[in-house]
Amino acid sequence: MKFTYYGHSTFGMRIGGKDILFDPFISGNELASDVNIAEIPADYILLTHGHGDHVADVEAIAKRTGARIVSNFEIATHFGNKGFENHPINQGGHWKFDFGTVKYVNAIHSSSFPDGSYAGNPGGFVVWNDDVCFYHAGDTALTMDMKLIPMLCPKLDFAILPIGDNFTMNAKEAALASTFIECDTIIGCHYDTFGYIKIDHDEAHKVFESKGKKLILPAIGLETEV
Ligand code: NI
Ligand code: MN
Repeated sequence: MKFTYYGHSTFGMRIGGKDILFDPFISGNELASDVNIAEIPADYILLTHGHGDHVADVEAIAKRTGARIVSNFEIATHFGNKGFENHPINQGGHWKFDFGTVKYVNAIHSSSFPDGSYAGNPGGFVVWNDDVCFYHAGDTALTMDMKLIPMLCPKLDFAILPIGDNFTMNAKEAALASTFIECDTIIGCHYDTFGYIKIDHDEAHKVFESKGKKLILPAIGLETEV
């Protein structure tokens, strides 16, 4: 299937006839300066946690598209109170949407809104329907809980994992995560956007190759086949 990488942790994909957008942070990302947020389609916006580098463009995109915001109770309610369509979901829960099933899973990180207010517990999403199953881990450390994913969800076709270190796991740990989740195709995210998370791409590729895994570091703003 095809997806579009908009930089950092922001991904768009069309599944089940709907446009799903993850963690929109574009206007504050110099690396994504060629992306026009007014052209990004969205029927649903899935938010892993409340940090600014994951929610900065939510309101602009949701206002234009009418997209439903799917996130933990605190984040969904926060946007609901501002008049946005939303669906609250918490760790361990599933919901069957018109495009497929979403499960919100654990992440080890923190979660607050840019103004410092409480944004619930951070998470990741596993999304599946008859055609595809994938995992967007959000911001997270390597966690043993990842081993639950292949026990509880269909076989993953691919997974989006953070590899930038400092705020999340690094490429070496993400490669170990790929064995925990039993997935051979990994799309890297949350790297290079700012100084703390700049990485060596060749080294990251080598780490995955040494485990017989494929690491995709997609170009920003282009459609990529996975
Ligand atoms: Ni974060
Ligand atoms: Mn982040």
